[in-house]
Amino acid sequence: METLHIELDKRSYAIYIDRNLLARLPGLLDPAESWAVITDEEVYGLYGKSLLENWRSDKVHAIVLPGGEEAKNLQTVGKVAGQMLDLGLTRRSGILALGGGVIGDVAGFCASVYMRGIRYVQVPTTLLAQVDSSVGGKTGVNLAQGKNIVGSFYQPQGVFIDTQTLRTLPRRHLISGLAEVIKYGVIYDYEFLTYLDSRLTDILNLKDDVLKEVIRRCCEIKAEVVVADEKEQGLRKILNCGHTVGHALEAATDYREYTHGEAVLVGMYAETLMAEELGLIDQRYCTEILALIGKTGMEFSLDSILGEKLVDHMMKDKKNRDSRISFILPRGRGETAEVLLTRQEAWGLLRKFMG
Ligand code: NAD
Ligand code: GLY
Repeated sequence: METLHIELDKRSYAIYIDRNLLARLPGLLDPAESWAVITDEEVYGLYGKSLLENWRSDKVHAIVLPGGEEAKNLQTVGKVAGQMLDLGLTRRSGILALGGGVIGDVAGFCASVYMRGIRYVQVPTTLLAQVDSSVGGKTGVNLAQGKNIVGSFYQPQGVFIDTQTLRTLPRRHLISGLAEVIKYGVIYDYEFLTYLDSRLTDILNLKDDVLKEVIRRCCEIKAEVVVADEKEQGLRKILNCGHTVGHALEAATDYREYTHGEAVLVGMYAETLMAEELGLIDQRYCTEILALIGKTGMEFSLDSILGEKLVDHMMKDKKNRDSRISFILPRGRGETAEVLLTRQEAWGLLRKFMG
């Protein structure tokens, strides 16, 4: 089993990565008075039911939510908290988040507010959640007005990654996860980017040792960033590369057309072109990133999907300062720069590649 550590004083925890970890999970957890396993319908059928059967405890309860981004809201949090109270969960109980990023974000937020905060662990089952959302303690839900508007920084007590769960993940969600994987190469580790380039087919074919190495390296990078800047005062912003355009694209299409990862992939494509246009990266490196994004197999065309209304959504981005839009753009290999642009400047640049 691969083990990484997030050193954050009293909030330190470990990330465990292995095949078939789910079967061993109950024995790996610190004891709690009782547990709520929060999951979605799909993941409950695939993994939750058998996890509860193996656990053989009447102190473990499943709370099953509908799948998808629509469930990531305050109504769900209220319902989950009510169910937890009815089930008798106390301050000494724990939450186990079993699922993708939506479940991790909702369950983590519930843990941070239920009885003013109880322990929780992340058991991510999508690639995106295994390499990104389960690590680092960002939790939260959406409002009708915007994504991840209500939330908290609340670290889990452990992250348990069973790479075997990716075998049932639909390819669309595998590609979504690849967006965040490629992001780490772009923002932090050029050597990792070239490794991804040579192993992309193996990843898409779920080759075990490659998948495990990819997940390990992504978690290692995320751990380094989070330890250096837990609450996104500085360095952690680099994790938002591709997200300014990505989040705007999700919002402009009512969160229905693109998964988060797909929107980030499109966002990284557009933001790489912006970086080249601004002279932050050379043409060769730009082509290298765009080609890697292309290799994921996601098909899109910037001129047909994007337009000026995206910039309206970007004006509401949480990272903005002084009415200027914040972009985290690639700058050289394995590095980024934050670039602040006015609405007019941003659109002037983006319209060169968008319709
Ligand atoms: P998701 O949680 O919606 O999962 C995608 C789909 O895959 C769901 O339908 C789910 O039922 C299904 N699924 C999950 N595991 C499966 C498996 N092993 N086999 C088959 N099906 C499976 O989407 P996601 O891409 O995992 O997460 C996206 C969310 O994560 C967004 O809300 C995004 O904002 C959030 N996010 C949070 C952070 C963070 O730091 N907290 C970082 C990145 C993204
Ligand atoms: N996914 C961005 C972050 O964790 O900061």
